[in-house]
Amino acid sequence: MPPATEAEREPSYLAVSNVIKRFGASTVLDSLSLAVGRAEFVSLLGPSGCGKTTLLRLIAGLLTPDQGAIEVGGRDLTRVAAHRRNIGVVFQNYALFPHLTVAENIAYGLKAKGVPRADQAKKVTEALGLVRMEAFADRAVTALSGGQQQRIAVARAIVVEPSLLLLDEPFSALDRKLRETMQIELRHILRNLGITSIFVTHDQDEALVMSDRIAVMNEGRIEHLGTPSEVYARPKSLYTMEFVGQSSRIAGVVKGGQDGLVEIDTPFGLIRAPGNFLVGSKVVVGVRPEAIAAGEGPASDYNMVRGTVAEVIYFGSRTLLHFRTSRETDRLHVELNRLPDQVEPGTEMTVRWRIEDSRLFPAPAEAPQ
Ligand SMILES: Nc1ncnc2c1ncn2[C@@H]1O[C@H](COP(=O)(O)OP(=O)(O)OP(=O)(O)O)[C@@H](O)[C@H]1O
Ligand SMILES: [Mg+2]
Repeated sequence: MPPATEAEREPSYLAVSNVIKRFGASTVLDSLSLAVGRAEFVSLLGPSGCGKTTLLRLIAGLLTPDQGAIEVGGRDLTRVAAHRRNIGVVFQNYALFPHLTVAENIAYGLKAKGVPRADQAKKVTEALGLVRMEAFADRAVTALSGGQQQRIAVARAIVVEPSLLLLDEPFSALDRKLRETMQIELRHILRNLGITSIFVTHDQDEALVMSDRIAVMNEGRIEHLGTPSEVYARPKSLYTMEFVGQSSRIAGVVKGGQDGLVEIDTPFGLIRAPGNFLVGSKVVVGVRPEAIAAGEGPASDYNMVRGTVAEVIYFGSRTLLHFRTSRETDRLHVELNRLPDQVEPGTEMTVRWRIEDSRLFPAPAEAPQ
């Protein structure tokens, strides 16, 4: 099933409305709004310090906003204490109780909720089954590997059937292979249980793989909220284009245009891109590296530029070429599945990409032209 469009999605289950959070003189969240549908998995993706954990802590009730409101399932939680929100949290450092066994850790929340003993045991066994850790019930949590502890932290958070699950970089301590396995597993579990989840990460691949939608954050604001393919293929801003995935970027000045296409004067020659900018506007053209191919194509459909290879980076299944640019802010990166013969640093070659694969953005104020 294709992902629902904005209009088809049900009214928001989690609604964060115009939330402002200040620490002293610094505004960490700046009138931020976010609406998440029931059973949706949304990632908060952004660089260190952009306010991801702060937003999570506000939703969990561990912080209070200076302004704005937070609702879950139509209930205003803004002033409700954390332990009365029925929100599960998985922190980056697991925060398991070291003196308790695996089963006791998972049962902790059930006890606090007053779930009868017999039901506790059943629910703990079910939760252990979900994360495939049944055999570890009586193990001390200190005697588990990082990945196993992470599974227990997830089991402990979902066993109480939270109305919302918040995960703050839960896999950052795991090695790459294990992280990739956990990403797929967790996604599978949460989808089956239909738990609405907010997942913090600064790993773009993790966000692309796991999410129904991604909220790309920048300095306390959401820069772009969209499905992984929307955010990757049609980024709303240069910031999003650069933060999610690799991209080439070439700055230039609009020379002319008609019918929704503009011509841009750049150090690589004239480049055409879809968009409407006034003649004289300073712009940046962004292109994904896999959209660029070696060699020429029909000029009616393609931008073609000639350049000199600066670096050849071999990835096994593909090779990335970095081209020389005359300005530090420009970048021309080309990803090829098969490397043409005799391409090495210094090789001159022509590359092409479809005009429609060019994304056009206003130049950032500080970019030199
Ligand atoms: N309790 C606090 N008091 C003062 N400043 C804080 C506090 N908590 C966070 N900040 C500041 O707020 C900003 C956002 O912090 P936050 O922890 O939300 O970032 P983050 O996006 O989660 O970053 P990271 O990826 O490094 O975890 C940072 O500049 C941080 O220093
Ligand atoms: Mg954080």
